[in-house]
Amino acid sequence: MTATVDDVPDEQLDVSADRGMPQHVAIIMDGNGRWAASRGMPRTEGHRNGVKTVRDIVRQAGELGIGYLTLFAFSSENWSRPPSEVKFLMGLLRAYVRSDLKELKKNNVRIRVIGSREDLDPGVRRLLEDAEHATAECSGLELVLAFNYGARDELTRAVRKLSAQVASGGKQPDAITGEDIEACLDTAGMPDPDLIIRTSGEQRLSNFLLWQAAYAEFYFAPMHWPDFDRNAFDQALSCYKNRERRFGGLGTAVST
Ligand code: FPP
Repeated sequence: MTATVDDVPDEQLDVSADRGMPQHVAIIMDGNGRWAASRGMPRTEGHRNGVKTVRDIVRQAGELGIGYLTLFAFSSENWSRPPSEVKFLMGLLRAYVRSDLKELKKNNVRIRVIGSREDLDPGVRRLLEDAEHATAECSGLELVLAFNYGARDELTRAVRKLSAQVASGGKQPDAITGEDIEACLDTAGMPDPDLIIRTSGEQRLSNFLLWQAAYAEFYFAPMHWPDFDRNAFDQALSCYKNRERRFGGLGTAVST
C-alpha cells in the first residue's frame, strides 16, 4: 500500500519549530530569602536581586524563541508572610512593570497575568491590566506573571464558572469536557507547560499549575533564584532536550 502524507504524524512534519526547545517554560523562583540570609542581608535584598534574574531570564527566553514563560511571582499563600514583606513584594512588582514595560514592548513581549485579581490593591491591579493592554498586540514571548496565584483557587473559580453555566441551563453536567474546564482556567488558550523549573533545591509544586502540569517535565536547580543565571537556564533546557516525553504512550524506544 502507498503511504500518504496523512500517515505521517503532524509533529514529524513540523519543520518550523525547534522541537528540542520547550514551547512553555514555567518557573518557581524559590530561595530569595535564603540567598539573602546566607549573606547576612534582609530577605528583601533577596527579592530585589531576584528581579535582576527575572530581567535576564525574560531576555534569554525571548532570544531563544520560547513561546511562553510563566513566573510564579506571588502565591495566594504568600499573604501569610509578614505584612512588611508582602508590601515589599507588591512594590517590587510595581517597580518592575514601571521600569521594564518599555523594553518589554520593544522586545515584542506580551504580558499576561494569572491569579485572582480580587484582593489586589486597586493601583497594582490597574498597573497590571494596563501592562496587559499596552502589550496586547505583541507577538513574541508571552510573559505570564502568576500573581496572587494558587492552582486550587484557580480550579475553584473555574468550577464556579462552570456551575453557573449548568445552573443557567446552558450546560448539561454530563456534557462537561476537559476543554470546558481549561476554558475556565486563568491559562485559557495557552499551551500546558512543557518544563517546570524550581530553584533552591526544593522539590515540590506548591500549588502551582496543578491541572496544567499533568505532563510537564520537572527540573530542580540547586541554586537560589538570584543565582540562577543564563548558564543555569541553558543547563535546564539542555536537560529537557534529553527527556523522552511519552504522554502516556509508548515512546520511541518501543517499535511496533
Ligand atoms: C520565593 O523565595 C520567592 C518569592 C515568594 C517571590 C518571588 C519574587 C521575585 C523574584 C521578585 C518579583 C517578581 C517579579 C516578576 C518582578 P522565598 O522568599 O520563599 O525564599 P526562601 O524560601 O529562601 O525563604
